[in-house]
Formats: sequence, C-alpha cells, structure tokens
Amino acid sequence: MGNTKIQINKTNASRLSEVDFANINFGKVFSDHMFMADFENGEWKNFEILPFQNLEFNPAFNSLHYGQSVFEGMKAHLDADGNVVLFRPLDNFARLNRSCERLCMATIDPQIMLDGLSELVKIDKEWIPKTEDGALYIRPFIFATDEFIGVAPSETYKMVIFTCPVNKYYDAAVKVKVEDHYSRAAKGGVGFAKAAGNYAASLLPAKKAAEEGYDQLIWTDATEHKYIEESGTMNLMTIIDGKIVTPPAGETILGGITRDAVLTIANDLGYKVEERPLSVDEVIEAQKAGKLEDMFGTGTAVTITHISGFGRNGIDYELPPVSERKISTHLKNELEAIKRNQNHSHKEWLVIVK
Ligand SMILES: Cc1ncc(COP(=O)(O)O)c(C=O)c1O
Repeated sequence: MGNTKIQINKTNASRLSEVDFANINFGKVFSDHMFMADFENGEWKNFEILPFQNLEFNPAFNSLHYGQSVFEGMKAHLDADGNVVLFRPLDNFARLNRSCERLCMATIDPQIMLDGLSELVKIDKEWIPKTEDGALYIRPFIFATDEFIGVAPSETYKMVIFTCPVNKYYDAAVKVKVEDHYSRAAKGGVGFAKAAGNYAASLLPAKKAAEEGYDQLIWTDATEHKYIEESGTMNLMTIIDGKIVTPPAGETILGGITRDAVLTIANDLGYKVEERPLSVDEVIEAQKAGKLEDMFGTGTAVTITHISGFGRNGIDYELPPVSERKISTHLKNELEAIKRNQNHSHKEWLVIVK
C-alpha cells in the first residue's frame, strides 16, 4: 500500500446490525465510514476517514449551480479467504481524472484514492453482503466548493468516497426503447466523462420511456439517431450470427471498464468480437432474419444484464429467451469469478486488500 497519511476517526455507533443484507434497496444503504479530502491552494490535503455523515455546504457552492461534479462507480467483493477484492480500481481513478480534466476540475493522484479506498474497505469489510450477488458498491466523487456564483473553474474541491452494500441491480432482463429524439452525448461534448449533469439530462427521456412501458433507453448518435451508442448506464453489446458486435467506446460512448473486461474475456475464450458502428437498422434486419441472438448491457452496477426486447417507433422486437443465451452467460460467469478471485485469469485486474 502507499504512503498517504490518513487521519482515521471510527464510529462508535455502527449501524451494521440494522441492515437486512438479503433485502437492500440499491444505493439507499450506506456503510459506516467515508473517505474525504479537500483541494485547496493547488493541492489535495486533509485525508481522513470518518463516520458517514451529512456534509455542510454553502448555498453558493459552484458545483450546485454549474455542475462541476464528477463521479465513479466500482465494486468490491470478498474472496474465499475473506479478503476484499477491488476490481480494476486504478482504471476507475484514471477515468475519474479524465472526467475532471474535461470539466476543468482538479485531478487527484490515483494512488491517494487507492490508499484511501483500501483503508475504507478494510474498516467497513463487514458491510460486504455475503449473499450470492452481494458486493460493496463504491462511489468516489469530486465536486467544486468555491463559494462564488461566477461561471469560472472552482479553485477548491472536495473528494469523497462512500460505499453501499448491494445485491443485484435488475432482477430480470430489461426491455429497452431506441431513443430517436433526445441525445445523451454529442461529439465535442462530455459523454466520455462521468459528469453529474449527463445523468440529470437522461432522466426525462428515461421517464418518458418508462411511461411507454420500457425499463431503459438505447441512446443513438446525436446527429442522425441512426447508430446505437449505449443503454442507460450500460454499454451495449449484441450477438449477431455468432459474433459479438458492439460500438466502439470514445467521445460519445463511455469507456466502460466492464465493457473492456467482457471484450477481453471474449477474445480470451475465442469468441469473435467486432467493435464497429452498429446501426439500428442492422439490428432490426438481424432480428427479422433470426440472426439477433443476444443483446445485453455491461456495467459495474449491472455486470451483464440481458435485454428481453427493444422498441423503435412503437414497434417491439423480441429477443430469444435468456436460457438460450449461452455466450453472454458464459462471459458473465467468467467475469463474476474473476471479480471474486475464483479464477486464474486476469489477476492483474485485482487489488486484494488484506
Ligand atoms: C453512461 C455509462 N455507460 C456505461 C457505463 C458502464 O461503465 P463501467 O463498466 O465502467 O461501470 C456507465 C457506468 O459507469 C455509465 O454511466
């Protein structure tokens, strides 16, 4: 572990015994502690772990007004020896810094984040559910704290990491709507960043889709609404005629860490992978020809979530039953085993906190 000097102040009133780990609402239960730091006078300081608690804020905090606020989402699991296993944490911290750069915010040394997170999960290890799909969801975020409502980059920031015990995100396959009016991301914009505002902008389109009976959206390109981008907070993959086809991550498609892991594992296992633009028309043609074998989303919260069907312009297209989707189920099982340190491949993705 690294050398970050962290002040540790543990709670003397743990809430652990109040939690029913078999029935947790995703994102509504918070572990006992959090890690925090401040950026002032050009440097990060005041590294501390303290009881999870409310923060005070000045109404003029510029993150509240102009959205200099970015976040990450990652997970920790327990391995068979009871160690905490972090999955690719440095990739999340690198992405956090890319988000900070795009939003003109202070970046932070990934090693500081890793040191703080490692201490935090050691202290709150008992919060990792021992249920089948249990994990500790980790939420690092940075926001601007200048007390100034001029539109300008903040000179001060706060970084926080807190954690939530979680089980499965979706209980069943999801039905999605191809969005052909609203856009999530445009070239030159902030789609590749985990900027808080991206998620605010997605809420209305998602609400409208829900009113039409869909669980989520498939975002399409902002120029023509012709090409598939991603779905909710998941990258999207299809299996067409035996090949995994997925659009390339980039300016408008978030570079998902699960996406990268799934494609790497798919290559390892000898499945055919094509990263290329994928039009909605091609997917519909494939579905009509009986060649659309699978469609699934990948993401930290959901791991791999199957898509039961999709709708476009009021027409719904069905996909085969999940029981027939052998490739994605194979990939999901491999990934889950790697994340729990039960598999010999890709040990380089794991940080084991003893
Ligand atoms: C817009 C968006 N796409 C895709 C993903 C999946 O990324 P990851 O696999 O790194 O969780 C996320 C979640 O982080 C997301 O917010």
